[in-house]
Amino acid sequence: MCGIIGILGTRPVAPLLVDGLKRLEYRGYDSAGIATLENGHLTRLRAEGKLVRLEKKLAAQPLAGHTGIGHTRWATHGVPVERNAHPHMSGRVAVVHNGIVENFAELRAQLQEKGYKFESETDTEVIAHLVSEALAGGKTPVEAMRAVLPCLRGAFALALVFEGEEDLLIAARQGPPLAIGHGKGEMYVGSDAIALAPFTDTVSYLEDGDWVVLTRRSATVYDADGKQVNRAKKKSSGSAFLVSRGNHRHFMHKEMFEQPETVAHTLAHYLDLAKGTVRKLGNTPDWKALSRISFACCGTAYYSTLVARYWFESLAGLSVDHDVASEFRYREPPLDEDTLALFVSQSGETADTLACLRYCQQSGCKTGVVVNVAESTMAREADSVFPTLAGPEIGVASTKAFTAQLAALASLAVMAGRARGKIKARQEEELVRALGEVPRYLAQALKLEDTIGKLCRHLMTAQHVLYLGRGTACPVALEGALKLKELSYIHAEGYAAGELKHGPIALVDEDMPVIVVAPHDRWFEKTVSNMQEVAARGGRIILITDKRGAAAVSVKTLATLVLPDVPEIAAPIVYSVPVQLIAYHTAVLLGTDVDQPRNLAKSVTVE
Ligand code: F6R
Repeated sequence: MCGIIGILGTRPVAPLLVDGLKRLEYRGYDSAGIATLENGHLTRLRAEGKLVRLEKKLAAQPLAGHTGIGHTRWATHGVPVERNAHPHMSGRVAVVHNGIVENFAELRAQLQEKGYKFESETDTEVIAHLVSEALAGGKTPVEAMRAVLPCLRGAFALALVFEGEEDLLIAARQGPPLAIGHGKGEMYVGSDAIALAPFTDTVSYLEDGDWVVLTRRSATVYDADGKQVNRAKKKSSGSAFLVSRGNHRHFMHKEMFEQPETVAHTLAHYLDLAKGTVRKLGNTPDWKALSRISFACCGTAYYSTLVARYWFESLAGLSVDHDVASEFRYREPPLDEDTLALFVSQSGETADTLACLRYCQQSGCKTGVVVNVAESTMAREADSVFPTLAGPEIGVASTKAFTAQLAALASLAVMAGRARGKIKARQEEELVRALGEVPRYLAQALKLEDTIGKLCRHLMTAQHVLYLGRGTACPVALEGALKLKELSYIHAEGYAAGELKHGPIALVDEDMPVIVVAPHDRWFEKTVSNMQEVAARGGRIILITDKRGAAAVSVKTLATLVLPDVPEIAAPIVYSVPVQLIAYHTAVLLGTDVDQPRNLAKSVTVE
């Protein structure tokens, strides 16, 4: 989703702005632009498409100046063309914006009546005109912002610079995150600490409703009521975020291969592997007092909760309710103090998930978040925070964050089961030992890469692909289909294997690859029956199973991918690897943009 960077520098800022924008590329975008103050006057360059097009323009037409703002735009209002790219300018002001101004149509109509001409279809341009109008009326930039901000409804982050004001940058946050970077005689603002990492590791985060007046030597923060407030400076881990692919062709590839390590780190946080017990962590809910867990999240994170449902119900005897976050609130689900509302998010900023968290807090139930970005809004707002220690995930399609989410959720389910007396010390030890082996199994699963790379030649020509699974393999099938869609743009659907005959079987013919995720578990034989139904209709089966499954299956397959035999609790984590590799290699063969698939954003900060 859109990325913002702003710099009050002591050197030419245009290349620095582009550098910051490059570090925001992972969020997903379709156009980019920067504006600087050259001898007090605003100049701007914008380009449709990837940053390299903006860089080419800048090489031909460099922008001077030590003050500037930059933006990567993920289109919401208006197509991704140059005229809609940010910064937007009006009179003496230039603005960049992430989020949505919900009342923009009303504001636009009022401004048009007053004679303002609009060059773009964006909601952002109303902000530029409103501030410009206030400046024209004699207000200072600070007074203008104080007057305009209350007129804007919605969720947004803004950064503005003003003609004739070389030592001033104003930024505001109502929803999407914004970090202030404190440098030596320089000051920065950015959508996240990753963008600011090349410049400083001292950051402070604006809270919702805050706005800040920056000069090179000061940051004066006001809250939503206009009161001056202090926002603590922190040392960010952002400087450690080497946005580098290393020897890997794509970030996604690097991140897939980091999984043995990232899952190991996550497990070690929750489990004492030497003792075979769950750790005692501070700030965990009173599992005994709960009767229900209610999950709400989006996309891949949502699929992690579909797996977790099996674990919490069977190991901890807690009933589990789940929904996609974008629908959860509309049901107005009954929530009481025996319910733990548990959210899962890589970014900790996804607008729908955050809105559900706030809704649940208002309803009086306890909240928890399984989250990867420790400094995120969800991590700050939830009652209990359960970290995933996957490190920064740059590839837009989630891989290592998903397996870390599964590792954390499995550990929490064991913790809850133990606390509620549903599992005994011996079973706890067995489960902890089984989870402790997952990093090793993941490393073995990654060895399937070459086989999968060759197999994907059969998939790259498919129009549609079906994924089937049963039990905890069912959400892995759903995740596999999502990964293939996102990366290769091939239409794919995941189904519970037992649902096949209730509709999707109509699609099966000899052109249809059917990927079956089936460890040799207690559901295996039933899944084999579903494979027979596919085979009888000529469907091309790719079976992902283990040694026991491969030996037991009698159905003819196009290919059988054989994983190590793993304990049941480990299976969904381990089986995530081949479905990731399938999506990745199919996309590579098709030549799509693996790390930044079209139309997708990493941190979805609009509802
Ligand atoms: C898919 C993917 C998305 C995210 C979803 C939620 O590969 O990455 O579906 O899982 O947008 O994002 P977070 O986890 O940041 O809340």
